Amino acid sequence: MSRQPDTSPEPSMSPEASKSPEPSTSPGPATSPGPARDRLQGIIDGFTMFTVMQAALKLSIIDLLAARPHDLEALADAVAGASGLGRPDERLLDRLMRALQHLRLVDRDDGGRYRLTADGRPLVSGQDDSLAPGTLIWGQDLWWESAHLLHLTIARGVPVALDTYGVPTPYAYLQSRPAEGRLFNEFMRTRSHSVAHALAEQDLSRFGSVADIGGGTGIVLAKLLQRDPRLRGTLFELPEVAAEARRHLNELGLDAVTVLDGDMFADPLPVAELLLLCNVVHNYADEQAAKLLARVAELMTAGSELWIVDSIVEDDPVSSPSASVALDIKMLTLFAGGQERTLGDIRGLLGQAGLAVEHTRPLPHGLSLLVARRR
Ligand SMILES: C[S@@+](CC[C@H](N)C(=O)[O-])C[C@H]1O[C@@H](n2cnc3c(N)ncnc32)[C@H](O)[C@@H]1O
Repeated sequence: MSRQPDTSPEPSMSPEASKSPEPSTSPGPATSPGPARDRLQGIIDGFTMFTVMQAALKLSIIDLLAARPHDLEALADAVAGASGLGRPDERLLDRLMRALQHLRLVDRDDGGRYRLTADGRPLVSGQDDSLAPGTLIWGQDLWWESAHLLHLTIARGVPVALDTYGVPTPYAYLQSRPAEGRLFNEFMRTRSHSVAHALAEQDLSRFGSVADIGGGTGIVLAKLLQRDPRLRGTLFELPEVAAEARRHLNELGLDAVTVLDGDMFADPLPVAELLLLCNVVHNYADEQAAKLLARVAELMTAGSELWIVDSIVEDDPVSSPSASVALDIKMLTLFAGGQERTLGDIRGLLGQAGLAVEHTRPLPHGLSLLVARRR
């Protein structure tokens, strides 16, 4: 079936997607047409389109079509086998497929069989940088509630969804829900894949040892050690994640890595010439972040370095990357005091710990590498 010309606005959460020339300061009639209104409608519809993507993943449609094209009947049979949710209603499944076609994630061949397009490929599971875990995580209870309750979190000044589940942090929640914990770890692994590559391209020759604190299942550490096998590596993590990291690192043949269980705020941290805090500092309020940085700084000598990976927001929100602005809202909803910071904010926190930023480098996903040393 040939694709019809598409005149509807693209669903997008990103303001960059269809920027209006200049924001208008005079509201005018609410019904006025134009790019600003289309952009807002695109954001509204983006929510529904996101649920379409989630449904396609939960019904295993993306992976089934990645394996081979299916006509509707065969797809319904295959969904029944793969998803464990029973055989879908073919008429409704067809409607979902139309939405996926609109999103250009799926098309149809001349025989009417649905196929995954190149645009849909990033959603296939099992790829190093698959977007599937990052899509599915928002269907998990705590993540969903946190987004839904953003307004209450702002009104009350605390992440309301954490109270709903009676946990102090999302990590405490994940510890008691192993399947969700595994999905989160997979999400971080896929998200940090390209970051790990970028970090491994830095010059590591001045270091003999590296420790990744809150290092997840070890994707970053593994890439550094694969790049430079001379390095001695240590990963420090909460017990459940540490256990998964051991398995992951063993599978990669990196058995020499030391994996330590512990709480980074209470237990002794590993000593190394290069210390990593990747996607960690932004989880915490200033006071806790300062405490963590002070603990790390105590371990550092004149020659050692701390590499922080986090997103840096601009003072001007309009010029901040959308990914950073969205991440800041995610931190707000999920972590008490969690936030993305400006470079000035991070310099201030590091300064309290006796550290100074030597330089910064841009990384994928709107993240940055900040290299800090003792002052
Ligand atoms: C956002 S993830 C980042 C994972 C990894 N560094 C990366 O960038 O892919 C934060 C990690 O910090 C770990 N973590 C949270 N609280 C911790 C604590 N108190 N002590 C040690 N690790 C902790 C979590 O288990 C999680 O894997």
